[in-house]
Amino acid sequence: MRAWIERFEKMGELKVIYEKVDLELEMAHIAYAEAKKEGGGRALLFAKPTRDGEVLQTPVFMNIYGSRKRTEAIFGREIEQIAARVQKLIAPDHPTTVGGKIAKLLDLWRLRKCFPTRSKKRGECQARILLGKEAKLSDLPILKTWKEDGGAFITMGQVYTRSLDGKARNLGMYRLQVFDDHTLGLHWQIHKDSSAFFCEYEKAGVPMPVSVAIGGDPLYVWCATAPLPKGIFELLAYGFIREKRAKLVRCVTNDLFVPGDADFTIEGFIDNPSARLIEGPFGDHTGYYTPKEAYPFMRVGAITSKRDPVFAATVVGKPPIEDKYMGYPTERIFLPLFRTSCPELIDYKMPENGVFHNLIIAKLRTRYDGHVLQAMHAFWGVGQMSFVKHAAFVGEDAPDLDDYEATLEYCSDRFSTDRVVVASGALDALDHSSPQPLFGGKLGLDFTGAKVKKKVSAVSDRELFDKIKPLVPEAIKLKQYAINGANPIALLQIRKVRPVKAFASALESLKEYLSIVIALDDRNNDVENGYMSLWRICNNIDAARDLTLGAIVLLDATTKDEADGFNREWPKDTDCDRDTIKRLRQKGLWDYDEAFERKFQLL
Ligand SMILES: Cc1cc2nc3c(=O)[nH]c(=O)nc-3n(C[C@H](O)[C@H](O)[C@H](O)COP(=O)(O)O)c2cc1C
Repeated sequence: MRAWIERFEKMGELKVIYEKVDLELEMAHIAYAEAKKEGGGRALLFAKPTRDGEVLQTPVFMNIYGSRKRTEAIFGREIEQIAARVQKLIAPDHPTTVGGKIAKLLDLWRLRKCFPTRSKKRGECQARILLGKEAKLSDLPILKTWKEDGGAFITMGQVYTRSLDGKARNLGMYRLQVFDDHTLGLHWQIHKDSSAFFCEYEKAGVPMPVSVAIGGDPLYVWCATAPLPKGIFELLAYGFIREKRAKLVRCVTNDLFVPGDADFTIEGFIDNPSARLIEGPFGDHTGYYTPKEAYPFMRVGAITSKRDPVFAATVVGKPPIEDKYMGYPTERIFLPLFRTSCPELIDYKMPENGVFHNLIIAKLRTRYDGHVLQAMHAFWGVGQMSFVKHAAFVGEDAPDLDDYEATLEYCSDRFSTDRVVVASGALDALDHSSPQPLFGGKLGLDFTGAKVKKKVSAVSDRELFDKIKPLVPEAIKLKQYAINGANPIALLQIRKVRPVKAFASALESLKEYLSIVIALDDRNNDVENGYMSLWRICNNIDAARDLTLGAIVLLDATTKDEADGFNREWPKDTDCDRDTIKRLRQKGLWDYDEAFERKFQLL
């Protein structure tokens, strides 16, 4: 990673912080705000991480992926070029000229580099080896990122596992909670590949080897997050993108293999696969805390490192954060792969403020009745894409999907209640709004039809609010979006005193002015802030419960409680800690103004 630090420095993409910065909250707060700067800010190298006032030797590297420029540097080329190579691989052309045939053969020959090599020698990552009691997690600069987190977590660990029969290997990125010096929690969610491997070990009652690599080539991290099908080792993607084989070395205390250039490796076993520890809470990339839950854990048997290692970490929370930049290559590279199930898919976007899988906008070339439904169910049925909660489809005549305003207006012009699908299915483990974990409502919106007639008379926000207030006394503020479209969307901020559905029929008397109303809580929201409002809406709704399709369409994006029939714990927002900000201000490490804090709902 030192080489990447130098490279980012030359690119003007690095900021070194020489002041002492505490691993508890301070470091994460700085990186969190940096990632929200226009373009993603710079990569941060914390030269003096401290814990309880004591300086640790290993520097911490953060916001590594946090700009398009750095992400493309890590991938070694423009992401679209990699996507084009993937496209070529799955839909090969048939060259007819001799030159074309030779080029094709060379192309195929290059593919051999996808396969990792295994060295018999020790790797750079094993220059220092600490075993047993000597291998202490407290020697690593592991951050506590949010105030109400259950403890310190490794947030950029590459987790290596293999199937019980040894035939398949996996690399996944999962957060890892430090329980004590030798115990690490493994938050692989139930749908993930390592969790599937783990089930095999649990069933057989056999200890499971686990190795966690930290650092090395930053591309490993993206590979660890890539939603490749179970059984496909993510380092094949590394070789494909780098056009260079990953060079692996055997771990010292288990028979897994990790990249030899990693900065650290943590090796161990899940000794007792039927045992669990309560993991969490943890401030997650949804912008909410995930509540405590039982997860397996590993006993750390060895920690190895380079001579002069650097520790990599990230912080997740409300958007935009570093994973925005990590999600972009995933979206682009997986588009050609997804087209194999949905050939008429022109493009799609998974905006970071839709929390990626909570909102997908897809452009489709429709050819027959039911085509959109077919595509919708393809999305809801394939791998990690099946976690998509809200799927909107637009036709090939839609504007560029990056132009959100124009796309919203296009959708507003084509919205019709008979083109709304409410289904149910598997949900991401982090979803908090469905009545039960892992399963809930899905919303499909078909905007591929013809324009509809404008049914409502446009009035100003003020006028509309004055009409609503007598009917909905809890209303606080209103802002309309897509006001020129056939179906404007009114975001209504309320101080909730009763279930939102209770005022649905009262609003119908305003159908001359209202088409779509989305209710949001007054606390922690501002309907003027479209970016953060979309984030809140995509997180908080379960369409099967929260959508009322009447003379007007009402969507309830408020916090739910027993009165709404919601009996789970509703999580808190990941909010920055005021005392930490105050300390950082005093140290001269926080110069953001109130407008910035409000824009991204930091507090
Ligand atoms: C910053 C970040 C943190 C993540 N943390 C977790 C996590 O704690 N648990 C999890 O199951 N997935 C987590 N993920 C998502 C997985 O890395 C992703 O789903 C990956 O495809 C899993 O690999 P697998 O399918 O091989 O299991 C995280 C992703 C990112 C970008």
